Amino acid sequence: MSNITVAGTGYVGLVTGVCLAEVGHQVTCVDNNDEKINLLRQGISPIYEPGLDELIVKNTENGKLDFTTDYQSVYAHSDVIFIGVGTPENEDGSANLNYVFTVAKEIAESVEQDCLVVVKSTVPIGTNDRVEAYIKAHLKHNVKIEVASNPEFLAQGTAVRDTLYASRIVIGTESDEAKQILMDVYEPFKLPILAMNRRSAEMVKYASNDFLALKISFINDIANLCEKVGANIEDVTNGMSYDERIGNRFLNPGIGYGGSCFPKDTKALHWLAEEEGYILRTVKAAIDVNEKQKYALIKKARNDFPTFNEKKVAVLGLTFKPGTDDLREAPSIPNIRLLLNEGAHIQAFDPVGIENYKKLFPDQISYKHSIEEALEDAELCFIFTEWPEIKEMDLGLFKEKMKTPYIYDGRNCFSLYEIQNKGVNYHSIGRPS
Ligand code: UGA
Repeated sequence: MSNITVAGTGYVGLVTGVCLAEVGHQVTCVDNNDEKINLLRQGISPIYEPGLDELIVKNTENGKLDFTTDYQSVYAHSDVIFIGVGTPENEDGSANLNYVFTVAKEIAESVEQDCLVVVKSTVPIGTNDRVEAYIKAHLKHNVKIEVASNPEFLAQGTAVRDTLYASRIVIGTESDEAKQILMDVYEPFKLPILAMNRRSAEMVKYASNDFLALKISFINDIANLCEKVGANIEDVTNGMSYDERIGNRFLNPGIGYGGSCFPKDTKALHWLAEEEGYILRTVKAAIDVNEKQKYALIKKARNDFPTFNEKKVAVLGLTFKPGTDDLREAPSIPNIRLLLNEGAHIQAFDPVGIENYKKLFPDQISYKHSIEEALEDAELCFIFTEWPEIKEMDLGLFKEKMKTPYIYDGRNCFSLYEIQNKGVNYHSIGRPS
């Protein structure tokens, strides 16, 4: 088994490191954030991710997993170094590669033996070439370095399962030697491995994410049209899904895609294409539809409430999707900002997102720890995330607790059949009101 280092303990880095240890490798995770490393050493994950804490504890105890801020000593003697740091969005939509190149610099200055550097972070096509050239130009010792691309396909909330039982492992290399090292690293996973060149591997990641984003924007577009022509998007997607070429996944309409990936990866690929003198029209359409879709719910509420000033508004669900406390690009944020600007009084419930939300809106929102409390006396209610707690709630609560039960459901949490006799005014996405 190889001696592996993973740089970065965010979603990608940490889950990768933990899962590589789980299959038997000796793994050290490196981060420059002392606080994070201290938590991890105590077996506590700094991110909310089901199943992750247990694997951290198990693999730390059996000596397979270790955490440190001392990158120099671990990079010096690693066979393989994975880079799993963030690549956030620049203001112009391009990917910010500062963290990747900071790690590249640290690697160049520290490695004392031949080593394969594997870029797991989502990076624009051609970045692996640049990282390799950069490391080679800054090496302090006379060692052989190669860079490989190995994009990550995990989704937040199901990250551990997505990694251990991934649909595929994509590896992009420029030599048989690098390819063999990565094949060996992934051999214990017993998963399909697709080997290709570095640029193709980088493109697989963007093309996959952008295709999924496109799928969501397409179905949101159709859902909006369904409302106009009296069709029901649920029946429409069901009817479409029996065609195996279409399938039934990622066709849930809503208030748009959020998170740390689709919004930034669509913009980054569009930006990159423009740089190449090519307009990626389909991806641009996905971005535009998504931008508008964020406000689809509030537009509906406007028909019933010309102003939200002084209205008591219940909000159920704050995170960008269930199963995570991550708020990056959560559609709830622009909606709540708009409601607050208009003078609404917000009572919000989320099973895990409240602590992070308090960092964004410390005083302006009244945070509640149950659905009942959030609904108390409210005149209208927005649902932004389809948490199981919300989907399975007692529908009688709306009428019982709210002053006027106007419900705007941005994630189609309830069946129209179930809600129809509950005495509420219910609006969802792409379905008849
Ligand atoms: C996404 C991809 O699903 C992963 O394959 C990929 O590895 C990851 O990005 C990444 O690049 O790191 P993630 O952002 O965690 O994962 O979450 P998703 O489950 O894909 O959801 C993204 C957004 O799309 C959420 O806001 C969700 O509500 C929305 N969505 C998803 C819909 O509106 N409709 C759907 O049918 C599916």
